[in-house]
Formats: sequence, structure tokens, C-alpha cells
Amino acid sequence: MSKSIIPPRSRSRASLKEEKIIQSAEAHLERTLIKVRGHLAGAVAAIEYPSKGMSLNYGEVFLRDNVPVMIHLLLKGRHALVRHFLVLCMDLQSSALQTRGLFPTSFIEKEGELVADYGQRSIGRISSVDASLWWPILCWIYVSHVQDWQFGCDQRVQRAVQRLLDLVMQPSVAGTPVLFVPDCSFMIDRPMDVWGAPLEIEVLLYGCLKCCVHLMELAQHHNAAPSRLLSQRIPLTRQWIHDLRSYLLKHYWVTSKTIQVLRRRPTEQYGDVQHLNEFNIQPTFIPDWLQDWLDNRGGYLIGNVRTGRPDYRFFTLGNSLACIFGLLTAPQQRALFRLVLHNNNHLMAQMPMRICHPPMEGQEWAMKTGSDPKNWPWSYHNGGHWPSLLWYLVMAVALHDKDHPNADVLLTGQLKTLLERCYQIHLSQLPRQQWAEYFDGPTGTWVGQQARTYQTWTIVGFLLTRELLRNGCRLNFSFALSQETSGRA
Ligand code: GLC
Repeated sequence: MSKSIIPPRSRSRASLKEEKIIQSAEAHLERTLIKVRGHLAGAVAAIEYPSKGMSLNYGEVFLRDNVPVMIHLLLKGRHALVRHFLVLCMDLQSSALQTRGLFPTSFIEKEGELVADYGQRSIGRISSVDASLWWPILCWIYVSHVQDWQFGCDQRVQRAVQRLLDLVMQPSVAGTPVLFVPDCSFMIDRPMDVWGAPLEIEVLLYGCLKCCVHLMELAQHHNAAPSRLLSQRIPLTRQWIHDLRSYLLKHYWVTSKTIQVLRRRPTEQYGDVQHLNEFNIQPTFIPDWLQDWLDNRGGYLIGNVRTGRPDYRFFTLGNSLACIFGLLTAPQQRALFRLVLHNNNHLMAQMPMRICHPPMEGQEWAMKTGSDPKNWPWSYHNGGHWPSLLWYLVMAVALHDKDHPNADVLLTGQLKTLLERCYQIHLSQLPRQQWAEYFDGPTGTWVGQQARTYQTWTIVGFLLTRELLRNGCRLNFSFALSQETSGRA
């Protein structure tokens, strides 16, 4: 990745200051790590939050918030800690009748007992589906980076994978390869009209199933005699992955061209006619803002697909993960990067990056969020800016760059300049704003109205952004499946 763009004269003073900030970020991060069963096990969500009189759960170990933490720790060689985290999560996988296979949103040790939240203690009592999908992904990254094949083949790991597959690869009334979930079931855990098949969940499902196949193939390879269960499950999971990817690319991927085709398609089609407009989308429902947003050569995956009412909002995390997991082809990834460059005044503005665009306002906000006071327009999940999201995009660019260094040199140069500028914003703003959780307003200048300070994934996201920009992706793993026709290609 690119070198610093700071002018040489001021570089030594600037880099001294930068070094200090990095050291203090690392020290803050160390303070977030807590012990469970006598060993360091993961990070709490934030160091500072008002706890008096409120049972806020920022003092717990959230699975999703620990994704960047574990990646950072792997890069630091702290393998035992990551393994302990994976084992604890596995021990907490639900075996209850109605949630069998589900991993918890968060956990904590209280008076020697492990206490987990599967949704029963959260506002709105919603289970996080993303936590379960992240576990095999992290497990595969750990196993392949550390080359701990023994852990990958461990009976406990293999059983956890099977239980999870039982939960997510179910026949459904819709007969589609997507996973249906309620509103609030992932990072966006307050009402935001993201029920059904929201992008982030479907992309995570794609990454999760790929990692499950890797783990199953690993065990099959090391088995003295091939297991019958695995011989059946591996091809079925591969087929599901294939169908899911085709479905997402067909229905979620949009460019200026696909929108123009969609606008002129027939509507109200019954019966066996060749379906040109399967979801019966009326041309008037396609929002005007897409024209400038997509420009000529941009593309992205929309937020959700449902009959008559697709969700055209742009969700940053789902799109970045679609690059990282190789769901988007390399040319599609470049179209996405062009879209980010074109819309950088919205997506980056004064605090990279906005979580979703555009926000819901007025009557729409009232109806679709139930007048949620935290998700008001331009705040929190509803158009707020989350510094913790930047590293995912930087990772996507780093992986693309590694595989296709000469694909579009001009685009790569522009991207590197943009990402370096974003990093410099974080460097100057985050320590000053006490590593706030999120930022508000159309430019993301204001510290989030209810933002926690010393938020763990803000701190570790900053460290990962810097690491990826300076050294590229030094993790030793691949999501690509053997005999895969596209993926990261
Ligand atoms: C908030 C966020 C959620 C995060 C949690 C802990 O609930 O919406 O995504 O995991 O805080 O940081």
C-alpha cells in the first residue's frame, strides 16, 4: 500500500506524534482485554460508559466487536488468546430446543460463572445472527494463519460447525438460498427496517459457509477413513454457496446499466412467462438519488430485496465484506471502489465512514424505526459515521491490490490517496474525541449524541487501518474454495 503523503519537512515531527498516538491506542486496547476462566479471553465493547442506574452491556465481550480485536491479536502473534476466545464462544453455542446452534451476542464472567446473552437481555430482545456467522470465519482465519490444523479438526470445532449448518441451511417456504432474519439482528441492532434478507447477513452467510467448507474439508482430509456425514455435507454446502452467490449477484448488484434495464421492464407479470421483473418492482419506486450516486461506472450491492420494495440504501459493511469474501468479482469490486470515490463527500466526509446512506427522515423515520430516539436522521445507525468501519474497506482494497496490482493503476492511486486522507482524519480526530463510538450529522463532524468513549472497535479499527495501509494484509489465509470459478478472481 502507499507511503505516507505527509510532506517530508514535517514528517519526523509528525511521525513522532503518530508513534505516540499508536502507543497510547495500543495501551487503551490492552485495558479492554479481560480474563475469563483465568486467561485473557477478549475485549469489552468500551472502557468508558455510564453504568450507574443502567444495565448497559458495553462491559461485556461482544462477538462482533471482537472480530477486529482477534485479527489484530493474530497479527501480534497472540495466538493463545484468540484460541481461548474461540473455545469460549464454542462452549456457549446454544443447545436449547429453539436456538440450537446459535452463538451468543456477548458474554461475561460473573462470580465464576459464564453468562451469555442470546438476545434475552438486549433492548427489543433480539438475537444477533451475525455473531453466529462470524464464528466459523474467525475460526478459519485463526486455523489457517496459525496453521493450527489440529484445532481445526478438533471434534468440538467440527461439532460446532455441524450444529451451525443445521441452523442456517434450512429449507424455507421461499425456496431461496438466503437466510431470513428479523429487524436488528446484526451490527445494526435497533429498528432500521433491515428485516428479511439484509445484505450484511447474506454476505456473512456466504463467508460463513465458505469457511465451514474449509473446516470440513480439513477434517475430511485428516480423517483415517472419510466420514459419510462430511461426504454428504460438503457438496451440499458448496451448492448452497454457489446458489447464494448467484442470487445475490443477480438481485442485489446494481449499476447505472442494470437500473436502466429495470426501469423499462414490464410489471405485473403472472404465471409462467419468463420472469423479467421477478420482484414486480415499479419504475416509480426506483429513487432519483441513484442517478448521481451510481454515476457512469459505479456499482454496489443494495441493502435488501423484497417483493415490490427493494431497499436501495447503501450499507458500508455488507459491501466491504462482499469484496473481502470474494463474493464480488474483481471488476465489480473496482466498480464499488469507483462508487466510494465518487461519493466520498457522503461516505467519508469529516469522519470515515458512514454506516448507511441515505438516512431515513421525517415520516419514513417515524414509521420504519418506530420513532427510535437513537436512530434519528443522521445519527447512530441511521446515517451516522462509524470510524470502526474504515478498516474493512481498507482490507478490501488491500486484498484486491494483492491479487490484481495492475488492474487499474489510476483507480488504485486515487483510492490510496483517499484512504490515506481518511487515516489522517482518524489520526487527528479520534484521540481528541476520546475514541468515540460514532459521529453524527451530514458530515459526521459531531461526536455521536449518545456515543460511548474509548470504544474498543474504534481503537482497534484505527490500528488495523494503519497496519493495512502500511504493510498490506499480512494474514495468511484464503477464503477461495478449490475449483471455484470466480470468487477472489
Ligand atoms: C451497539 C451497536 C452494536 C455493538 C454494541 C457494542 O449496540 O449497535 O453493533 O456491537 O453496541 O459495541
